[in-house]
Amino acid sequence: MSDCPRTAVIVVAAGRGTRLRAAGPKALVDVAGRPILQHALDGVFRMREPAQVIVVAPPGRRDDAERIARACAGAASDYVSVVEGADTRQGSVAAGLARVEDGVDVVLVHDAARALTPTEQLDAVADAVRERGTGIVPALPVADTIKRITGSAVIESTIDRDPLRAVQTPQGFPRALLDAAYAAATEPLTDDAALVTAIGGEVATIAGHESAFKITTPWDLRRAELLVDAAPALRTGLGVDVHAFDEDRELWLAGLHWPGEPGLAGHSDGDAVSHAVTDAVLSAAGLGDIGGLFGTDDPQYENARGDVFVAAAVQRATASGFRIVSVTAQIIGTRPRFAGRRDEAESEMRRMLGAPVSLTATTTDGLGFTGRGEGICVIATALLTAQSPLRHH
Ligand code: CTP
Ligand code: MG
Repeated sequence: MSDCPRTAVIVVAAGRGTRLRAAGPKALVDVAGRPILQHALDGVFRMREPAQVIVVAPPGRRDDAERIARACAGAASDYVSVVEGADTRQGSVAAGLARVEDGVDVVLVHDAARALTPTEQLDAVADAVRERGTGIVPALPVADTIKRITGSAVIESTIDRDPLRAVQTPQGFPRALLDAAYAAATEPLTDDAALVTAIGGEVATIAGHESAFKITTPWDLRRAELLVDAAPALRTGLGVDVHAFDEDRELWLAGLHWPGEPGLAGHSDGDAVSHAVTDAVLSAAGLGDIGGLFGTDDPQYENARGDVFVAAAVQRATASGFRIVSVTAQIIGTRPRFAGRRDEAESEMRRMLGAPVSLTATTTDGLGFTGRGEGICVIATALLTAQSPLRHH
Protein backbone atom coordinates (compact mmCIF):
# COMPACT_ATOMS: atom_id res chain seq x y z
CA MET A 1 0.00 0.00 0.00
CA SER A 2 2.77 2.41 0.90
CA ASP A 3 3.79 2.96 -2.72
CA CYS A 4 0.23 3.60 -3.91
CA PRO A 5 -0.18 7.22 -4.99
CA ARG A 6 -1.81 9.56 -2.46
CA THR A 7 -2.73 12.08 -5.13
CA ALA A 8 -5.01 11.62 -8.14
CA VAL A 9 -5.10 13.88 -11.18
CA ILE A 10 -8.28 13.83 -13.24
CA VAL A 11 -7.44 15.16 -16.68
CA VAL A 12 -10.69 16.18 -18.37
CA ALA A 13 -10.38 15.88 -22.12
CA ALA A 14 -13.90 15.00 -23.19
CA GLY A 15 -14.99 18.37 -24.59
CA ARG A 16 -15.94 18.88 -28.23
CA GLY A 17 -13.96 22.08 -28.64
CA THR A 18 -16.76 23.95 -30.37
CA ARG A 19 -14.92 27.27 -30.22
CA LEU A 20 -11.76 25.76 -31.72
CA ARG A 21 -13.76 24.71 -34.80
CA ALA A 22 -11.47 21.74 -35.54
CA ALA A 23 -12.59 18.58 -37.30
CA GLY A 24 -12.41 16.36 -34.19
CA PRO A 25 -12.48 16.67 -30.39
CA LYS A 26 -10.13 19.35 -29.05
CA ALA A 27 -7.92 17.06 -26.92
CA LEU A 28 -6.94 15.09 -30.03
CA VAL A 29 -6.02 18.15 -32.10
CA ASP A 30 -2.26 18.47 -32.74
CA VAL A 31 -0.05 21.21 -31.37
CA ALA A 32 3.33 21.09 -33.12
CA GLY A 33 2.67 17.52 -34.21
CA ARG A 34 1.44 16.06 -30.91
CA PRO A 35 -2.11 15.94 -29.59
CA ILE A 36 -3.15 18.49 -26.95
CA LEU A 37 -3.82 15.58 -24.56
CA GLN A 38 -0.26 14.36 -24.93
CA HIS A 39 1.21 17.78 -24.13
CA ALA A 40 -1.03 17.97 -21.06
CA LEU A 41 -0.10 14.49 -19.85
CA ASP A 42 3.63 15.12 -20.36
CA GLY A 43 3.31 17.80 -17.69
CA VAL A 44 1.31 15.54 -15.38
CA PHE A 45 3.70 12.58 -15.57
CA ARG A 46 6.65 14.78 -14.63
CA MET A 47 5.12 15.56 -11.22
CA ARG A 48 7.47 15.15 -8.27
CA GLU A 49 5.36 12.50 -6.55
CA PRO A 50 3.77 9.86 -8.75
CA ALA A 51 0.01 10.33 -8.98
CA GLN A 52 -2.92 8.23 -10.07
CA VAL A 53 -3.88 9.68 -13.45
CA ILE A 54 -7.43 9.42 -14.75
CA VAL A 55 -7.96 10.57 -18.30
CA VAL A 56 -11.53 11.48 -19.20
CA ALA A 57 -11.74 10.83 -22.94
CA PRO A 58 -14.02 12.26 -25.61
CA PRO A 59 -17.09 10.03 -26.03
CA GLY A 60 -16.32 7.31 -28.58
CA ARG A 61 -12.57 8.09 -28.56
CA ARG A 62 -11.50 6.05 -25.54
CA ASP A 63 -8.98 4.01 -27.57
CA ASP A 64 -7.21 7.08 -28.92
CA ALA A 65 -6.95 8.57 -25.45
CA GLU A 66 -5.75 5.26 -24.04
CA ARG A 67 -2.97 5.00 -26.63
CA ILE A 68 -1.77 8.52 -25.90
CA ALA A 69 -1.96 7.99 -22.14
CA ARG A 70 -0.01 4.68 -22.23
CA ALA A 71 2.68 6.25 -24.39
CA CYS A 72 3.10 9.21 -22.02
CA ALA A 73 2.94 7.13 -18.83
CA GLY A 74 5.82 4.78 -19.64
CA ALA A 75 6.71 2.88 -16.48
CA ALA A 76 3.94 4.63 -14.51
CA SER A 77 1.11 3.04 -16.53
CA ASP A 78 -0.09 0.93 -13.56
CA TYR A 79 -1.72 4.03 -12.18
CA VAL A 80 -3.39 5.25 -15.35
CA SER A 81 -7.02 4.75 -16.27
CA VAL A 82 -9.11 6.11 -19.09
CA VAL A 83 -12.88 6.65 -18.95
CA GLU A 84 -15.28 8.28 -21.36
CA GLY A 85 -16.69 11.66 -20.45
CA ALA A 86 -20.14 13.18 -20.50
CA ASP A 87 -22.00 16.04 -22.15
CA THR A 88 -20.88 18.63 -19.62
CA ARG A 89 -17.51 19.25 -18.00
CA GLN A 90 -19.12 18.59 -14.64
CA GLY A 91 -20.38 15.21 -15.85
CA SER A 92 -16.90 14.40 -17.17
CA VAL A 93 -15.25 15.25 -13.84
CA ALA A 94 -17.83 13.09 -12.03
CA ALA A 95 -16.96 10.16 -14.33
CA GLY A 96 -13.28 10.59 -13.41
CA LEU A 97 -14.00 11.02 -9.72
CA ALA A 98 -15.74 7.64 -9.66
CA ARG A 99 -12.40 6.02 -10.57
CA VAL A 100 -10.22 7.54 -7.82
CA GLU A 101 -8.41 4.80 -5.85
CA ASP A 102 -9.02 4.14 -2.15
CA GLY A 103 -5.67 5.38 -0.81
CA VAL A 104 -5.94 8.79 -2.48
CA ASP A 105 -6.62 11.79 -0.25
CA VAL A 106 -5.93 14.73 -2.57
CA VAL A 107 -7.56 15.11 -5.99
CA LEU A 108 -6.52 17.55 -8.71
CA VAL A 109 -8.86 18.31 -11.60
CA HIS A 110 -7.00 19.53 -14.67
CA ASP A 111 -8.16 20.69 -18.11
CA ALA A 112 -6.38 18.87 -20.94
CA ALA A 113 -6.96 22.10 -22.87
CA ARG A 114 -4.37 23.79 -20.59
CA ALA A 115 -1.81 21.73 -22.48
CA LEU A 116 1.30 23.74 -21.63
CA THR A 117 0.74 24.02 -17.87
CA PRO A 118 4.14 23.83 -16.16
CA THR A 119 4.61 20.76 -13.95
CA GLU A 120 5.58 23.11 -11.11
CA GLN A 121 2.00 24.38 -11.10
CA LEU A 122 0.63 20.86 -10.60
CA ASP A 123 3.14 20.20 -7.81
CA ALA A 124 2.42 23.56 -6.18
CA VAL A 125 -1.34 22.94 -6.10
CA ALA A 126 -0.93 19.42 -4.65
CA ASP A 127 1.53 20.73 -2.03
CA ALA A 128 -0.74 23.63 -1.04
CA VAL A 129 -3.81 21.37 -0.62
CA ARG A 130 -1.83 19.13 1.73
CA GLU A 131 -0.39 22.05 3.63
CA ARG A 132 -3.59 24.04 4.09
CA GLY A 133 -6.27 21.36 3.92
CA THR A 134 -8.46 23.56 1.71
CA GLY A 135 -9.26 23.72 -1.98
CA ILE A 136 -6.49 25.41 -4.00
CA VAL A 137 -6.83 27.11 -7.36
CA PRO A 138 -4.07 28.77 -9.42
CA ALA A 139 -5.09 32.27 -10.47
CA LEU A 140 -3.77 35.32 -12.29
CA PRO A 141 -4.62 38.98 -11.79
CA VAL A 142 -6.81 40.40 -14.55
CA ALA A 143 -4.81 42.63 -16.87
CA ASP A 144 -7.54 44.29 -18.90
CA THR A 145 -9.95 46.91 -17.59
CA ILE A 146 -13.28 45.18 -17.03
CA LYS A 147 -16.62 46.84 -17.90
CA ARG A 148 -20.19 45.90 -17.19
CA ILE A 149 -22.38 46.48 -20.24
CA THR A 150 -26.11 46.66 -20.90
CA GLY A 151 -28.11 44.40 -23.20
CA SER A 152 -27.40 46.83 -26.04
CA ALA A 153 -23.63 46.71 -25.42
CA VAL A 154 -23.43 50.15 -23.82
CA ILE A 155 -21.02 50.52 -20.92
CA GLU A 156 -22.78 50.73 -17.60
CA SER A 157 -19.84 50.76 -15.18
CA THR A 158 -16.20 49.89 -14.63
CA ILE A 159 -15.52 47.01 -12.30
CA ASP A 160 -12.70 47.33 -9.79
CA ARG A 161 -10.34 44.64 -11.03
CA ASP A 162 -8.15 44.61 -7.93
CA PRO A 163 -10.00 41.77 -6.18
CA LEU A 164 -10.62 39.88 -9.48
CA ARG A 165 -8.70 36.80 -10.55
CA ALA A 166 -8.78 34.65 -13.68
CA VAL A 167 -8.57 31.07 -12.48
CA GLN A 168 -6.81 28.15 -14.09
CA THR A 169 -6.33 24.47 -13.41
CA PRO A 170 -5.34 22.16 -11.84
CA GLN A 171 -7.84 22.85 -9.11
CA GLY A 172 -6.92 20.71 -6.10
CA PHE A 173 -9.02 19.59 -3.14
CA PRO A 174 -8.99 17.26 -0.17
CA ARG A 175 -10.71 14.25 -1.65
CA ALA A 176 -13.60 14.16 0.84
CA LEU A 177 -14.43 17.81 0.13
CA LEU A 178 -14.56 17.30 -3.64
CA ASP A 179 -16.60 14.10 -3.28
CA ALA A 180 -19.10 15.93 -1.05
CA ALA A 181 -19.32 18.86 -3.49
CA TYR A 182 -20.06 16.58 -6.43
CA ALA A 183 -22.55 14.53 -4.42
CA ALA A 184 -24.40 17.72 -3.50
CA ALA A 185 -24.26 19.33 -6.96
CA THR A 186 -27.70 20.17 -8.27
CA GLU A 187 -27.17 22.79 -10.97
CA PRO A 188 -24.28 23.03 -13.43
CA LEU A 189 -21.51 25.39 -12.30
CA THR A 190 -18.49 26.34 -14.40
CA ASP A 191 -15.65 24.94 -12.32
CA ASP A 192 -14.85 22.64 -9.44
CA ALA A 193 -14.08 25.48 -7.05
CA ALA A 194 -17.62 26.81 -7.59
CA LEU A 195 -19.10 23.44 -6.58
CA VAL A 196 -16.94 23.31 -3.48
CA THR A 197 -17.75 26.87 -2.38
CA ALA A 198 -21.44 26.08 -2.98
CA ILE A 199 -21.31 23.60 -0.09
CA GLY A 200 -19.38 26.05 2.09
CA GLY A 201 -15.93 24.65 1.41
CA GLU A 202 -12.94 27.00 1.50
CA VAL A 203 -10.93 27.48 -1.67
CA ALA A 204 -7.77 29.61 -1.69
CA THR A 205 -5.76 30.84 -4.68
CA ILE A 206 -2.07 30.54 -5.41
CA ALA A 207 -0.13 32.20 -8.22
CA GLY A 208 -0.94 30.77 -11.64
CA HIS A 209 1.28 30.83 -14.70
CA GLU A 210 0.79 32.44 -18.13
CA SER A 211 1.71 29.15 -19.85
CA ALA A 212 -1.31 27.46 -18.25
CA PHE A 213 -3.69 29.35 -20.58
CA LYS A 214 -6.57 27.32 -21.95
CA ILE A 215 -6.49 26.51 -25.65
CA THR A 216 -9.98 27.65 -26.60
CA THR A 217 -9.87 29.42 -29.99
CA PRO A 218 -7.80 28.92 -33.17
CA TRP A 219 -5.74 31.89 -32.00
CA ASP A 220 -4.86 30.07 -28.76
CA LEU A 221 -3.84 27.04 -30.80
CA ARG A 222 -1.45 29.17 -32.82
CA ARG A 223 -0.02 30.67 -29.64
CA ALA A 224 0.58 27.16 -28.24
CA GLU A 225 2.27 26.09 -31.50
CA LEU A 226 4.63 29.06 -31.35
CA LEU A 227 5.50 28.40 -27.70
CA VAL A 228 6.25 24.71 -28.29
CA ASP A 229 8.36 25.41 -31.36
CA ALA A 230 10.21 28.22 -29.64
CA ALA A 231 11.62 25.84 -27.04
CA PRO A 232 14.54 24.22 -28.83
CA ALA A 233 15.11 20.52 -28.26
CA LEU A 234 18.73 20.20 -27.17
CA ARG A 235 20.85 17.10 -27.72
CA THR A 236 24.26 16.42 -26.19
CA GLY A 237 26.82 14.13 -27.75
CA LEU A 238 30.03 12.52 -26.53
CA GLY A 239 33.05 11.23 -28.43
CA VAL A 240 36.33 9.65 -27.30
CA ASP A 241 39.33 8.80 -29.46
CA VAL A 242 42.69 7.27 -28.60
CA HIS A 243 45.76 6.96 -30.84
CA ALA A 244 49.25 5.65 -30.08
CA PHE A 245 52.26 7.79 -30.97
CA ASP A 246 54.17 6.73 -34.12
CA GLU A 247 57.57 8.48 -34.41
CA ASP A 248 57.63 7.82 -38.17
CA ARG A 249 54.56 9.94 -38.89
CA GLU A 250 53.82 13.64 -38.94
CA LEU A 251 51.54 14.93 -36.19
CA TRP A 252 48.13 16.24 -37.23
CA LEU A 253 45.93 17.39 -34.40
CA ALA A 254 42.84 19.62 -34.34
CA GLY A 255 43.27 20.08 -38.08
CA LEU A 256 46.76 21.56 -37.65
CA HIS A 257 50.18 20.24 -38.65
CA TRP A 258 52.63 20.10 -35.73
CA PRO A 259 56.18 19.97 -37.19
CA GLY A 260 58.80 18.19 -35.09
CA GLU A 261 56.27 16.36 -32.93
CA PRO A 262 55.78 12.56 -33.00
CA GLY A 263 52.74 11.64 -35.10
CA LEU A 264 49.81 9.43 -34.24
CA ALA A 265 49.25 5.93 -35.61
CA GLY A 266 46.12 5.14 -37.58
CA HIS A 267 44.65 4.40 -40.97
CA SER A 268 43.77 8.08 -41.44
CA ASP A 269 46.04 10.91 -40.28
CA GLY A 270 45.35 10.00 -36.63
CA ASP A 271 43.89 13.42 -35.73
CA ALA A 272 42.25 12.33 -32.47
CA VAL A 273 40.65 15.75 -31.86
CA SER A 274 38.84 15.70 -35.19
CA HIS A 275 37.80 12.08 -34.68
CA ALA A 276 36.47 12.61 -31.15
CA VAL A 277 34.59 15.72 -32.31
CA THR A 278 33.15 13.76 -35.26
CA ASP A 279 31.86 11.12 -32.86
CA ALA A 280 30.41 13.75 -30.51
CA VAL A 281 28.46 15.38 -33.35
CA LEU A 282 27.23 12.05 -34.70
CA SER A 283 26.18 10.83 -31.26
CA ALA A 284 24.27 14.03 -30.48
CA ALA A 285 22.35 13.59 -33.72
CA GLY A 286 21.77 9.89 -33.01
CA LEU A 287 23.60 8.92 -36.20
CA GLY A 288 25.93 6.24 -34.84
CA ASP A 289 29.72 6.61 -34.80
CA ILE A 290 32.69 7.29 -37.02
CA GLY A 291 33.68 3.62 -37.36
CA GLY A 292 30.19 2.61 -38.42
CA LEU A 293 29.82 5.42 -40.94
CA PHE A 294 33.23 5.66 -42.57
CA GLY A 295 34.80 2.21 -42.10
CA THR A 296 38.13 2.24 -40.31
CA ASP A 297 40.01 0.57 -43.16
CA ASP A 298 38.20 1.92 -46.21
CA PRO A 299 41.02 2.75 -48.71
CA GLN A 300 39.43 6.12 -49.56
CA TYR A 301 40.18 7.27 -46.01
CA GLU A 302 43.86 6.24 -46.02
CA ASN A 303 45.75 9.20 -44.55
CA ALA A 304 42.52 11.23 -44.72
CA ARG A 305 42.65 14.59 -42.93
CA GLY A 306 40.48 15.05 -39.88
CA ASP A 307 38.36 17.71 -41.52
CA VAL A 308 37.00 15.13 -43.98
CA PHE A 309 35.27 13.29 -41.12
CA VAL A 310 34.17 16.43 -39.30
CA ALA A 311 32.66 17.90 -42.48
CA ALA A 312 30.81 14.64 -43.21
CA ALA A 313 29.40 14.51 -39.66
CA VAL A 314 28.27 18.15 -39.83
CA GLN A 315 26.68 17.54 -43.21
CA ARG A 316 24.79 14.47 -41.96
CA ALA A 317 23.66 16.12 -38.73
CA THR A 318 22.44 19.16 -40.67
CA ALA A 319 20.60 16.97 -43.17
CA SER A 320 18.83 15.33 -40.21
CA GLY A 321 17.54 18.71 -39.05
CA PHE A 322 20.17 19.57 -36.41
CA ARG A 323 22.21 22.70 -35.88
CA ILE A 324 25.47 22.68 -33.93
CA VAL A 325 25.41 25.01 -30.94
CA SER A 326 28.90 24.39 -29.52
CA VAL A 327 31.65 21.81 -29.25
CA THR A 328 34.34 21.17 -26.66
CA ALA A 329 37.29 18.79 -26.65
CA GLN A 330 39.97 17.99 -24.11
CA ILE A 331 43.29 16.48 -25.12
CA ILE A 332 44.78 14.17 -22.51
CA GLY A 333 48.50 13.49 -22.91
CA THR A 334 52.03 14.76 -22.39
CA ARG A 335 52.57 16.02 -25.96
CA PRO A 336 52.27 18.22 -27.91
CA ARG A 337 52.43 21.34 -25.76
CA PHE A 338 49.05 22.65 -26.69
CA ALA A 339 48.66 26.01 -24.96
CA GLY A 340 50.77 27.95 -27.45
CA ARG A 341 48.56 27.02 -30.41
CA ARG A 342 45.17 26.86 -28.73
CA ASP A 343 43.74 29.92 -30.52
CA GLU A 344 44.88 28.62 -33.88
CA ALA A 345 43.44 25.14 -33.19
CA GLU A 346 40.13 26.55 -31.98
CA SER A 347 39.68 28.70 -35.06
CA GLU A 348 40.56 25.79 -37.33
CA MET A 349 37.97 23.57 -35.61
CA ARG A 350 35.43 26.42 -35.63
CA ARG A 351 35.93 26.72 -39.39
CA MET A 352 35.19 22.99 -39.79
CA LEU A 353 32.14 23.01 -37.53
CA GLY A 354 30.62 26.41 -38.16
CA ALA A 355 30.11 26.75 -34.39
CA PRO A 356 32.09 27.90 -31.34
CA VAL A 357 34.71 25.39 -30.21
CA SER A 358 36.62 25.34 -26.97
CA LEU A 359 39.73 23.18 -26.68
CA THR A 360 41.68 22.33 -23.55
CA ALA A 361 44.53 20.00 -22.65
CA THR A 362 45.61 18.15 -19.54
CA THR A 363 48.07 15.51 -18.34
CA THR A 364 47.46 12.54 -16.08
CA ASP A 365 50.20 12.98 -13.49
CA GLY A 366 52.40 10.35 -15.14
CA LEU A 367 49.74 7.68 -14.86
CA GLY A 368 48.48 5.34 -17.57
CA PHE A 369 49.35 5.25 -21.27
CA THR A 370 48.87 8.99 -21.57
CA GLY A 371 51.15 9.62 -18.62
CA ARG A 372 53.85 7.34 -20.03
CA GLY A 373 53.68 9.22 -23.34
CA GLU A 374 52.53 6.21 -25.36
CA GLY A 375 49.63 8.00 -26.97
CA ILE A 376 46.90 10.55 -26.49
CA CYS A 377 43.25 10.44 -25.64
CA VAL A 378 40.71 13.08 -26.63
CA ILE A 379 37.24 13.48 -25.14
CA ALA A 380 34.78 15.72 -26.97
CA THR A 381 31.24 16.93 -26.37
CA ALA A 382 28.81 18.50 -28.82
CA LEU A 383 25.59 20.38 -28.17
CA LEU A 384 23.03 20.36 -30.99
CA THR A 385 19.52 21.77 -31.37
CA ALA A 386 16.88 19.82 -33.19
CA GLN A 387 14.38 21.55 -35.39
CA SER A 388 11.04 20.05 -34.41
CA PRO A 389 10.70 17.15 -36.87
CA LEU A 390 6.95 17.21 -36.22
CA ARG A 391 6.33 20.73 -37.33
CA HIS A 392 5.68 20.17 -41.00
CA HIS A 393 2.98 17.51 -40.95
N1 CTP B 1 -14.48 18.99 -20.94
C1 CTP B 1 -14.88 17.68 -20.70
N2 CTP B 1 -16.16 17.29 -20.94
C2 CTP B 1 -17.06 18.16 -21.43
C3 CTP B 1 -16.67 19.51 -21.67
C4 CTP B 1 -15.38 19.90 -21.41
O1 CTP B 1 -14.05 16.87 -20.27
N3 CTP B 1 -18.28 17.75 -21.68
C5 CTP B 1 -13.10 19.38 -20.73
C6 CTP B 1 -12.44 19.82 -22.02
O2 CTP B 1 -11.98 18.67 -22.75
C7 CTP B 1 -11.37 20.74 -21.59
C8 CTP B 1 -11.88 21.30 -20.28
O3 CTP B 1 -12.99 20.50 -19.90
O4 CTP B 1 -10.13 20.09 -21.38
C9 CTP B 1 -12.24 22.76 -20.38
O5 CTP B 1 -13.35 22.91 -21.26
P1 CTP B 1 -13.36 23.82 -22.58
O6 CTP B 1 -12.11 24.53 -22.73
O7 CTP B 1 -14.65 24.57 -22.57
O8 CTP B 1 -13.36 22.70 -23.72
P2 CTP B 1 -14.53 22.30 -24.69
O9 CTP B 1 -15.79 22.22 -23.96
O10 CTP B 1 -14.05 21.12 -25.41
O11 CTP B 1 -14.55 23.54 -25.70
P3 CTP B 1 -15.83 24.38 -26.15
O12 CTP B 1 -16.45 24.92 -24.90
O13 CTP B 1 -15.27 25.43 -27.07
O14 CTP B 1 -16.71 23.41 -26.87
MG1 MG C 1 -16.68 23.96 -22.95
